[in-house]
Amino acid sequence: MSKKDKFERLTNMREEAKLGGGEERIKQQHEKGKYSARERIEKLLDQGSFVEIDEFVVHRETAFGMDEKQVLGDGVITGCGTIDGRKVFIFSQDFTVFGGSLAEMYGDKIVKVMQMAMDAGAPCIGLNDSGGARIQEGVKSLVSYCNIFRLNTWASGVIPQISAIMGPCAGGAVYSPAVTDFTLMVKGTSHMFITGPEVIKTVTGEEVTFEELGGAMTHNSVSGVAQFASEDEDHCFEQIRKLLSYIPSNNLEDPPRVMSDCSPDDMDESVDDIVPDDPNKPYDMRDVVAKIVDNGEFFEVHEHWAKNMIVGFARVDGRSIGIVGNQPAHLAGTLDINASDKCSRFVRFCDAFNIPVITFMDVPGYLPGTAQEWGGIIRHGAKILYAFAEATVPKITIITRKGYGGAFDVMSSRHIGADLVYAWPTAEIAVMGPDGAINIIFRKEIAAAKNKEKKRAALVKEYRERFANPYIAAGLGYIDKVIFPHETRSLICKGLDVLASKRQSRPPKKHGNIPL
Ligand code: HXC
Repeated sequence: MSKKDKFERLTNMREEAKLGGGEERIKQQHEKGKYSARERIEKLLDQGSFVEIDEFVVHRETAFGMDEKQVLGDGVITGCGTIDGRKVFIFSQDFTVFGGSLAEMYGDKIVKVMQMAMDAGAPCIGLNDSGGARIQEGVKSLVSYCNIFRLNTWASGVIPQISAIMGPCAGGAVYSPAVTDFTLMVKGTSHMFITGPEVIKTVTGEEVTFEELGGAMTHNSVSGVAQFASEDEDHCFEQIRKLLSYIPSNNLEDPPRVMSDCSPDDMDESVDDIVPDDPNKPYDMRDVVAKIVDNGEFFEVHEHWAKNMIVGFARVDGRSIGIVGNQPAHLAGTLDINASDKCSRFVRFCDAFNIPVITFMDVPGYLPGTAQEWGGIIRHGAKILYAFAEATVPKITIITRKGYGGAFDVMSSRHIGADLVYAWPTAEIAVMGPDGAINIIFRKEIAAAKNKEKKRAALVKEYRERFANPYIAAGLGYIDKVIFPHETRSLICKGLDVLASKRQSRPPKKHGNIPL
């Protein structure tokens, strides 16, 4: 073979690999509103940055006539590239090749690229679109999943791992995304479930559609399995790029600092007006956050689930921060099982990746009820205190209004480990709210009173004046400063400057045992 022929051979093989399962199947992808696996990589990464590896890998299965059906790349495209100039590793499952099903060599390709990401200290992004384990390869496919799950676990807390679900993701295949840090799902075209509608119907008699069972909004608003719902694939790529902008490439780096025109002292004084005069009136904690962070930009995570808690990323003075906040506009900001899980997982992510946590507290307590108690609120609620107590990143807490009881303790109070705690003049810090408190401590007096309601109202008023303020806690040094709301931004910026050199370590151990 001449050199020219050899070069031509390589060119032809590359062309062949590019086509995956062929033009007809790519057309079918487009008809479903989906990009091909290769188009997805091109759209997500910086233009021209992608370097593919293992494009000529093929399977070595012979059963079921598979030796006659080899496709270059074996149904998954892997390699590295950049997003905003920063290195990332990626795999993109190709539904046009055996339904994107995962098998031995395909699994090895994913494991290789994940290992490279870990070695390089760069995020790993998985674009999932697969019919699951390749049936023809049997147990070899199952083993390949194990190899991926194991590496997902080892990489957890070392490099950011992001999963975009852009098609089916069924059976045990869901566990790789579940272990990664963030899962994004595209509305209408992505589904995740352990057992599908057919099996459910046979076993339990329930009838449910794919969308109801495991569509994007189901996992974003009901199960909490996914953190982002994307309108379409382009939106999904936008969300991934934005997400990465807030986080470092690995656990040994700090997040990139992105300066804006905002000065640390910029403050919209209208923030002073947000907390209503009536302590029982709701307000939206996101309005508070927007007034404080750079350009008012809050990138919310888990927006549709456990809405009584808000979590997400923002910047102050260019520094990336993780925001955690009670949401008085939903369930009065009470803590429940889902809110606890949402908050703890986010705090642990921030801690693993050196992102300071700013907590906005307005919490009247835990959500009462048998559903919560029997559902294990004790175990789930404990995760919040565990996550905050364990975290060594800088932690600043702003108490905007209520800080009652155990919920005050766990929401990054000073004694659970916050470095700085500021309270607004509207803060109420006590064991419990005035109504509950006087019903317990003055039960006999109220029962004996001629006009019970008048007596109760007088006692509530007295309790509120005496305890429902920040000054008792300030007098004890439990909070560091009572501040006007419009001073918050400047004090967070100054606080993060001071805490930038924070060094804290915990006793050595193999790992803790968070109450899962
Ligand atoms: C091999 C598969 C496949 C699989 C799909 N294909 N899934 N080949 N193994 N798991 C092939 C089909 O034979 C077909 O090939 C092509 O991919 C496209 O599939 P269609 O069914 O035509 O596409 P569509 O109608 O869009 O349906 C997509 C689908 C369906 C919903 C994903 O294919 C499906 O239900 N597949 C099986 C899913 C499944 O049960 N997987 C195993 C899950 S258990 P041709 O050549 O005909 O076009 C599992 C265990 C993991 O994954 C355990 C990990 C621990």
